Parts: sequence; C-alpha cells; structure tokens
Amino acid sequence: HVTLGYMQDEETMRFGNHGGKSHGDGEVERSVRRDLAELAASLRQHLSYQALMGLEWLPSELVTITQVLPETLDEIRGKLGECTRCRLHSNRSHIVFGEGTSSARIVIVGEGPGRDEDRLGRPFVGAAGKLLDRIIAAMGLRRQEVYICNVIKCRPPKNRDPLPEEIEACGPFLRRQLRAIRPQAILALGGFAAQFLISSQQPISKLRGRVHQFEGIPVVPTYHPAYLLRNPLQKRQAWKDVQLLLSLVE
Ligand code: URA
Ligand code: URA
Repeated sequence: HVTLGYMQDEETMRFGNHGGKSHGDGEVERSVRRDLAELAASLRQHLSYQALMGLEWLPSELVTITQVLPETLDEIRGKLGECTRCRLHSNRSHIVFGEGTSSARIVIVGEGPGRDEDRLGRPFVGAAGKLLDRIIAAMGLRRQEVYICNVIKCRPPKNRDPLPEEIEACGPFLRRQLRAIRPQAILALGGFAAQFLISSQQPISKLRGRVHQFEGIPVVPTYHPAYLLRNPLQKRQAWKDVQLLLSLVE
C-alpha cells in the first residue's frame, strides 16, 4: 500500500501531465513522454492487480522505477516558496533550505536553523557548523561535495526543540530533497534528524553506531555537533559513526 500510494503521488507521477506548461517539445520528446505514460499506466495497473491479490510490499529497487522524472532541488525550493505552513514563518529572517551539490554521495541532515543560519539563510554556519566543517574535512571531503540541510527550515524561537506539527509541515520537503538527490548514504545529526528519517522514537544514543534506512538509502545517525561541543568525549563515538558512513559510499 505504501508503494502504491507513492506511485500515485502526483509529485512523482508527472509524466503525461505537464500542467499545460510549454516544453517546446519536438516529436521525439512527445513520443518518449507517451511511452513513459504508457509504462506508468501499465505499471500502475499491474501493481493494482498485485495489491488486489494481496501484495503488500515491494523490494526497494522498484521504488526507483517510479522516479523516472524526480523533482529537482530547484523545483522543490520553488514549491516551498515563502512558506507559511507552520507558525515558525512569523519569526524567521531566512528560510534555510539547504546547500551543496545535487549529485552529492553524502547528505548531512541536521535539526533546524539556529541564529546564524537564520540570519544568513545557510545551514551550519555557526559554532556547530564550524565543528561540522572539521568533520567534513576529516572525511576527506569539501563542503561543496556534500549536501547539507535540516529537518525544519525555519529557526524556532530561542532555538527550542521543533514541535511535532512543525516537523509534520516541513518534513515532507526534506523527504523530497532526499528523493531528488538519492545519495549513497545519509548522516543524521542528533535525535530529531535520526528519529525523523528512520521513523523511530529511540534516543540518539541507541540509534547511533548502526546503519538504518530511509527509502532504501542507508542512514547513519550520530551525535549532533552542538552536543559534541558540550560533550567532547563523545567525539570518539561520532568519529566511529562517520567511518561507518564512509564505508558505505564509493
Ligand atoms: N544546528 C542544526 O541542526 N542545523 C543547522 O543548520 C545549524 C545548527
Ligand atoms: N542529545 C541530543 O539532543 N543530541 C545529541 O546529538 C545527543 C544527545
């Protein structure tokens, strides 16, 4: 059911229906779109039949077949717009959407913007960001080679924890970013990111140190850099988590 619902998600099932947008399309593009529409229709019919016969899940490889035309990060940013979906919009200076490359092999997900991030509109640019920069450098990577974003995209007042309704409003955009990038692995920083991505209620201390999954993408949870700044002895564990993450990417 999850997979069928996903198939029918209009954000991913866009072939054959371009909402009247002009693509200056030639005969070839039209025929490719017709083929895709036919393929999608017959796949949907096939899966509906399988569901009727009792099929409840599919291996994750099939999920990628439904993503013939995934949204781009720019399209997702456009649809987020000047968001007012939750109350955090009223106090923000900037939405912090995320930054990095859309071809990132590794996506790093934090909790939400703090004061510096809100001021600049960029993720992880404050004190925690400086530590994250060192972690990324120790991974042998540059910031522009990964993609960095957060569960919520607007700063909560006084950096309080995100509320469930704020995560519910904003979380779908993180899911769409991850589907657009499809990295080889995700580093989840802190409890909120980890719990959101792997749909768990367990504390970060229980989730870290192991590989979990988000829609078939490996997720490695670790401590949030802001926590590591207050608890530097935990950096050893965090570094183990980062090495586990690196073992998953080519
Ligand atoms: N902490 C986060 O979780 N995200 C940021 O972008 C900055 C600090
Ligand atoms: N508590 C948190 O909120 N985050 C961590 O990373 C560790 C403990």
